[in-house]
Amino acid sequence: MQEFVVCGGKKLYGEAEIRGAKNSVLPVMAAAVLSKEECVLERVPLLEDVFVMCELLRSYGVKIRFEGSTMFIDSAGIKPAQPDEEFCKRVRASSLLFAPLLHRLEIVSLPVPGGCAIGARPLDYHLNAFGAMGAEVLDCGSKIILRASGLRGKEICLDFPSVGATENIMMAAALAYGTTVIRNAAREPEIVDLAAFLNKMGACITGAGCSVITVEGVNSLHGTVHRVIPDRIELATLMTAVAMTGGDCLFRGADAQTSSAVIAKLRESGISILEYEEGLRVIAYQRPRSVDIISMPYPGFPTDMQPQMMAMQTVASGISVITETVFENRFRHIAEMQRFGAKIKNIGNKALVFGREYLRGAVVEASDLRAGAALLLMAMAAEGESVVKNAVLIDRGYQQIEKLLSSLGADIIRNGFDE
Ligand code: UD1
Repeated sequence: MQEFVVCGGKKLYGEAEIRGAKNSVLPVMAAAVLSKEECVLERVPLLEDVFVMCELLRSYGVKIRFEGSTMFIDSAGIKPAQPDEEFCKRVRASSLLFAPLLHRLEIVSLPVPGGCAIGARPLDYHLNAFGAMGAEVLDCGSKIILRASGLRGKEICLDFPSVGATENIMMAAALAYGTTVIRNAAREPEIVDLAAFLNKMGACITGAGCSVITVEGVNSLHGTVHRVIPDRIELATLMTAVAMTGGDCLFRGADAQTSSAVIAKLRESGISILEYEEGLRVIAYQRPRSVDIISMPYPGFPTDMQPQMMAMQTVASGISVITETVFENRFRHIAEMQRFGAKIKNIGNKALVFGREYLRGAVVEASDLRAGAALLLMAMAAEGESVVKNAVLIDRGYQQIEKLLSSLGADIIRNGFDE
C-alpha cells in the first residue's frame, strides 16, 4: 500500500498549472465511443481513474494511445465484451458507458458499479431514462443488461439534477430518433464540456449549463479534437492548501467563473484571491476565519470540496457549520480528522467544526478520493510528521499530487510499493 509522508508547517509559494478535469475527461472518453472515427482529446489528466477507464474501453476493442497528455481514441473495431465486476467497481464512471455501448453494440451488459464510501449511488435515473427511450432494461442484481436497436427521444424529468444521469441521457439522446428534453438537468461545467464535445462531433444539443437541455437526435457522429476543461476541484483543493498553510501561489489556467462558490467562501474567510488573465493568485498571510458551508449541485458549493473545506475549518478561527446535501454518507473523514486533534461534532448531515490554532501530526487513512485530499491538507498544516495511507485513492483524482505540492514548497514523499 502506498502512503504519503508529510512534514507539516511549510508555506506554499510559486506557480502551478491546473490539469484537465477528471469529471470531464471520463464522460468525454465514453462519448468518443459514439463515433466510428478517431477522437483526439487534449489536456488529459494522467490519473488512476483515466487509466482504469482506458483498460475498460480496451476490453471492448477500443484502441487508445497517448502522446504526453493527448489521448487518441479509435473505436472503429469495437466488439462486445464481459468486463470483470471488480474492475468496473474501480471506476464508478463505468456507468457512463451504458449509452455509448448501447448505440454501438445494441446490447450491453455491465456489472453494477455498486455503492461506495460516500453513499449508495444508485443508477435508477439512468435506467428509467433508458427504459423511457425504448431500451429493454434487465436489472439482474450484480449486472445490468440493456438492449435496443435504436432509441427514441423523450421528455425526461430528473428527481434530482444528477450529473451522471444528465450525461448518460445526453449521450443516449444524441443518436436517438427525435427530440429529447431533459428537465431538472445538472448544470455542472463538466456537462457543458460534454455537450460542447458532442456538438463538435455533430450532435445537436442546446441548453447545457441550464436546467432544461434539448437534444435533437442525429444519424451519426464524427471524430473531432477537443481540449478538456481545467479541473475546478484540483484548483479548489490547491487554493485551500494555500489558505491552510499560508503562502502566495499563482495557479495557471484556473477558471474563476466555474469556481465562484469556492472562491466566495475563501474570500469570506479572509483569503485574498486575485484574478489575472493567466490564472488565479491566492495570497494567505493570516489564519483563515471560519465559514459555514452547504454542499449543493452546481452552481452551489461542490460536494467534492466539502471534505477539503472541512479540513480548512479545523484550523480556522471560530466555529463552522458544514451541511452535506448531495451524498448521504460523506462524513467518514471526520474520525480520521480527529486524529490530528481536530474538534468536530457530527449530527446527521451536519458537522460542527471548532477551529483550533494548531493540529498535531498523525497517521491517518484515506477512505475516498476527496477525503484523502482533505487529510493531506491537514497533514501539511499540522505540526511535525504525518502519514496519509491509501495514497492510491488520492491518485484517482490528482495527478502526482506530491510532486505538484512539493514544487510549491511542501515536504511530501511517497512511500511504499504497488501490491
Ligand atoms: C458526479 C461526479 C462526482 C460528484 C457528483 C456530484 C463524475 C465522474 N463524478 O458523480 O465526483 O461528487 O457528480 O457532484 O462526474 N442519484 C440517484 N439515482 C441516480 C443517480 C444519482 O439517487 O440514478 C443520487 C446519488 O445517490 C447522489 C445524487 O443523486 O445522492 C447526486 O449524484 P450524481 O450527481 O449522479 O453523482 P455522479 O454522477 O455519480
